[in-house]
Amino acid sequence: MEKRSGKHSAYKKASGPGKLPEAAGNSGTAKVSGAKEPSGRKQVWRAGNMLYPVPAVMVSCGREGEKPNIITVAWAGTVCSDPAMVSVSVRKSRYSHDIIKETGEFVINLVSENLVRACDWCGVKSGRDVDKFREMKLTPGKAEKLESAPIIRESPVSIECKVKQVFELGSHDMFLAEVVCVDADEAFFDEKGKLCLDRAGLITYSHGEYFSLGKKLGTFGYSVRKTPRRGKNKEG
Ligand SMILES: Cc1cc2nc3c(=O)[nH]c(=O)nc-3n(C[C@H](O)[C@H](O)[C@H](O)COP(=O)(O)O)c2cc1C
Repeated sequence: MEKRSGKHSAYKKASGPGKLPEAAGNSGTAKVSGAKEPSGRKQVWRAGNMLYPVPAVMVSCGREGEKPNIITVAWAGTVCSDPAMVSVSVRKSRYSHDIIKETGEFVINLVSENLVRACDWCGVKSGRDVDKFREMKLTPGKAEKLESAPIIRESPVSIECKVKQVFELGSHDMFLAEVVCVDADEAFFDEKGKLCLDRAGLITYSHGEYFSLGKKLGTFGYSVRKTPRRGKNKEG
């Protein structure tokens, strides 16, 4: 990759002084009520995780002869559209780590506002010490395509996954997995059979805090669309 020296760089130094050009009106930015205007000056921090917001998800897992377990995971993501693939990164020290490694299975359960307390609790208690399904009054359900990992029936959407590879990255092992099927609660389908995830009250996690999702700002491709179109929603 080309190295830019400060002297020849066409870019303004992130930490230096300088004002942003007028934001609203003719650019890619827009004033949004409630959000502070950026100053354009940056504090440069040492390397760390700052990709926010992210979904905080409840990952369920289980192995024969033991109670099923739930681990809260924020380091989760979609990594491929076709085949549908995801990753979750889990520290070796977690009780769930060995279960997922041994069985090669887990379920990513999306978290609604109703589940946010349970999500946090499952992220601070270990299955070594407690039965998280029982304590949180959650219901393990038989997964459609997995042998041992259950779905959480109270979750609006459960994503059944089979591990393809494990990457030992450092603090966390990343489980790269293929999605084998998705269980979506019928309550969130409209009369035409479309899944309306916006009705599920999903939450997000940002820099140590949980949030409800805010108002809808647009749909995929709306910035270039000439005439408003209904229904189609493409991603990735
Ligand atoms: C919001 C949140 C996000 C978390 N994200 C992760 C994560 O991505 N990976 C991880 O290993 N632990 C993560 N944790 C910590 C585990 O969920 C926690 O250590 C849990 O008690 C492990 O459960 P277990 O021992 O039953 O597997 C997170 C916790 C919270 C509250």
